Amino acid sequence: MHRKAKGTVIFGLFWVSSFFLVGSLAWCDTYVSGKVLTSDGKVVASGAVALEKGELHNNAFLAGGKILPDGTFKIPLPSGGPWGLHVYSEGYIYFPLQIRVNEGMDNETPVILPLDSNPDDDPRISNIRFAKASDQVFRITMRVDDSDGNLGPQMLAVDTKRFRAYRMLPVGGDLDDKKANFPVGDYVSPFIPAALDKEDPRDWLFVVADHQCSNGPIYDGLYQSVFRQPMAHTESLRCEVLGIWKSNFDKVYRFYLLSPGKLKGEQFDGNLIIDRMVQEQDRITMDFRFEGKKGEGTLRLVCEDSRVILTGDFTLPGRSGEWIFTKLKNEEIFPKGQDLFMANCAVCHFHDSTETKVGPGLKGVFKNPQLPGTGRPTSEETVRKQIQQGGGKMPPFKNLKEEEISEIIDYLKTL
Ligand code: HEC
Repeated sequence: MHRKAKGTVIFGLFWVSSFFLVGSLAWCDTYVSGKVLTSDGKVVASGAVALEKGELHNNAFLAGGKILPDGTFKIPLPSGGPWGLHVYSEGYIYFPLQIRVNEGMDNETPVILPLDSNPDDDPRISNIRFAKASDQVFRITMRVDDSDGNLGPQMLAVDTKRFRAYRMLPVGGDLDDKKANFPVGDYVSPFIPAALDKEDPRDWLFVVADHQCSNGPIYDGLYQSVFRQPMAHTESLRCEVLGIWKSNFDKVYRFYLLSPGKLKGEQFDGNLIIDRMVQEQDRITMDFRFEGKKGEGTLRLVCEDSRVILTGDFTLPGRSGEWIFTKLKNEEIFPKGQDLFMANCAVCHFHDSTETKVGPGLKGVFKNPQLPGTGRPTSEETVRKQIQQGGGKMPPFKNLKEEEISEIIDYLKTL
């Protein structure tokens, strides 16, 4: 009885919030997009995407869409800030990732799905039914089964036309403990504020996941599986460290260049922090921290016909091993202005003082109408020229791209 009452309250809230959002005009210029690759080096050609507003695993599913036959997705969001991104494709383990969305732009996020080595225990959907509740409102019901009884809270209906996702609840009411095993049986959507007569069931996708991040086949509203065979990668991988990589520990990294020989590396969704990364010809050394312990890695860039890898060893206190990174994707990434300043300018300029190091300190440089060395007027043009052409004892920075100089100028304005 208690559970049922709670379920009704949640339905009510969902209804109010969805009504409000449909009426709002904010779903225009903020997007999450990406291309879905697999850990066995293919491009996914079908599947569903769902996003929770706020923290990952809070189950506040709100937005969603589909993966197109070329492996890409692009989903408009009502607001920026933290979102939990989930990507599902049959045959692969689903991908939960906490992301930060910048408002008013397209937020590209690389997604790599690990292979599902045991599809037999995947949850199954059947009996999808659409039921009219009134001229303007309908609900969807489906049955969910699971051979190993470890269903999670993600029973999702995705409206790919309106880019919405709805969490479906057990007909007996939601469970308070979302880490508990959810029951097999019927699940029902909240009330959906649209006229059922005008709906095309093929615009809807249904996916369920268990606590081991497995999802079974994904269906449309006519109970047709949307599965398409993953495709070979068409992009030829450039023989360079810049790009998206996967390690033999199934973690995904983004490596980018800050200045010649100086790299920056970031791990997606993990607890390894790269403090320093240096490239000399084909040799890359890395200082990192893993769970608070300082470690070192020495890698070599090896380019073969069909693959580009970084291979070598790592050492940590009490542990060492082989590290192999496989390149998944080329990516042109512009590092942030602060990182670029630290890598290129900080040897000669203080950022937090006006004292001279080698060149003049740059604190407040854009707040002063005259540049500190030559007294020329301060403007984006004069500073850009100084960086590109150098001047006095300052060398020119021919390696920095236009966009990177813009990033540095934006950073200088904050000093
Ligand atoms: C090898 C040392 C060195 C490096 C590296 C260096 N600078 Fe300079 N910079 C100087 C010196 C020396 C001056 C003074 C030149 C002068 O008085 O004409 C200067 C002057 C400047 C000025 C003032 C120009 C003016 O007209 O007064 C700016 C702005 C500046 N640097 C920005 C940068 C930025 C941004 C970077 C990094 C991309 C950078 N510098 C890297 C040495 C350096």
